[in-house]
Amino acid sequence: MSAQNPRVAVVGATGAVGREMLEVLAQRQFPASEIVPFASSRSAGGKVEYAGSELTVRELKEDSFAGFDLALFSAGGSTSEKFAPLAAKAGCVVVDNSSAWRMDPKCPLVVPEVNPRDLEWHQGIIANPNCSTIQMVVALKPLHDEAKIKRIVVSTYQAVSGTGQKAIVELETQTARLMNGQEVIPQVYPYQIAFNCLPQIDVFMDNGYTKEEMKMVNETKKIMGDDSIRVTATTVRVPVFYSHSESVNIETETKLTVEDVRRILSQAPGIIVADYPEKKIYPMPIDAAGQDDVFVGRIREDESIDNGINLWIVADNIRKGAALNAVQIGEELIRRNLLRVPK
Ligand code: A2P
Repeated sequence: MSAQNPRVAVVGATGAVGREMLEVLAQRQFPASEIVPFASSRSAGGKVEYAGSELTVRELKEDSFAGFDLALFSAGGSTSEKFAPLAAKAGCVVVDNSSAWRMDPKCPLVVPEVNPRDLEWHQGIIANPNCSTIQMVVALKPLHDEAKIKRIVVSTYQAVSGTGQKAIVELETQTARLMNGQEVIPQVYPYQIAFNCLPQIDVFMDNGYTKEEMKMVNETKKIMGDDSIRVTATTVRVPVFYSHSESVNIETETKLTVEDVRRILSQAPGIIVADYPEKKIYPMPIDAAGQDDVFVGRIREDESIDNGINLWIVADNIRKGAALNAVQIGEELIRRNLLRVPK
């Protein structure tokens, strides 16, 4: 092993994001000397696919990280809380997809297109942001750099894959049952998700917002490195399998025209502007699924205020919103020679 050819652990490798991490690592030819999938004891000995072959899943244990350089975690918050510090202690840098470490001041929260330099101060655990936040900041950071965003109002339309493999199965099952006139019993979500929209993602907080909404508020400020941006969010689960969509309204300090926004975003990394209303071309979740880029369309001036813009932002929540972003962080760590836990 070496920092340039790391030994990589994928924790939660049997889940929706973990499987995608393996696919992205293979597709991007991540320069690993070895890749080892970990999951719970339930999956130990089972197989997962990697680069056309099968890898045997190992049970995650406290001493699993000896000899690893990098661990990509997507196994839920409680697994991360317990195992990420153990990994870092064993000298293995963690990129964690759960919300456990995101607001910890000792952990950088990184989107490589937006704040790669925050990796410089990592102490062993780096947090991968919330999926809805990632796609929004990829699109908004170039506009913030140009015209300083004062306020963001966002409403999301989030796919079930964000909840994990069991939610994908729940939408499939409920859809088939309802189409056959059978009743459904919700198991993953509090209500039926097929043919419905749920204005609740994660639990409610004391202020009436959901935890998902407050993640968007707090994570956006941390990633953009600007506490003065005001953010308000409404997050909604919709019966879509892959890709989150977002209706985003921004108010800027200086004026941006529609043409300015199109020009800035089409030159920015990781973004495709799909905005030809005359041809009925705009981003949609079925087109973004399986893609790496963040798609932006429906760009309009908000005519109700002086300096306002409306955007429609769509990205694959499992790829750019989770697995791809985590792998890109790994690549950036190698590029910057930061794949080590500081003493
Ligand atoms: P397992 O399949 O063995 O339960 P998803 O978000 O799609 O539901 O996936 C969650 C992932 O996290 C799965 O790979 C799951 O493994 C893994 N996981 C859940 N709990 C643990 C745990 N205590 N230790 C290791 N992996 C875990």
